[in-house]
Amino acid sequence: MRIFVAGATGALGRPVVRRLTEVGHEVTGMTRSPEKRTLLEGLGARPVVADTLDAAAAQRAVSEARPDAVLNLLTALPPAGPTRARELRATNEVLQRGTANLIRGARPRARTAWWPSRSSGSTASGPAKW
Ligand SMILES: NC(=O)c1ccc[n+]([C@@H]2O[C@H](COP(=O)([O-])OP(=O)(O)OC[C@H]3O[C@@H](n4cnc5c(N)ncnc54)[C@H](OP(=O)(O)O)[C@@H]3O)[C@@H](O)[C@H]2O)c1
Repeated sequence: MRIFVAGATGALGRPVVRRLTEVGHEVTGMTRSPEKRTLLEGLGARPVVADTLDAAAAQRAVSEARPDAVLNLLTALPPAGPTRARELRATNEVLQRGTANLIRGARPRARTAWWPSRSSGSTASGPAKW
């Protein structure tokens, strides 16, 4: 299966990408940093550099990957984890605006997207069909 992972370089994304490639999935991993390409290649993924808040870049990244499924592991939490409600704003923005950009790029090919529940209390969670 072709799987696009947003947040592929993160605390959640790295082990998930490694496992997906180990079991034979073809994974495209997104990062904003060209220097993290090597990290993603080491996990067995094809890296793509894009910011999910850049609508054109995010849509292009997903659409060129032609994924069967999109796994959204985006977060923008402080390194020590959030301690105040305002520290969830950035994460909520990438989950709301960023996710909308990913969905626009994934249609009409991908039929499934997965937003895992997070301990951080972010807003989007659960599987979605479109
Ligand atoms: N996630 C959780 O539920 C959780 C729970 C408890 C504690 N923590 C702790 O909190 C700290 C942060 O962990 P984390 O998992 O939230 O963050 P993280 O490890 O920094 O991962 C965030 C991921 O989201 C991506 N990302 C963020 N904004 C993006 C954007 N605008 N466009 C594209 N990609 C974007 C990052 O990609 P690039 O940076 O490569 O672009 C990265 O892959 C860690 O110390 C972790 O142990 C996390």
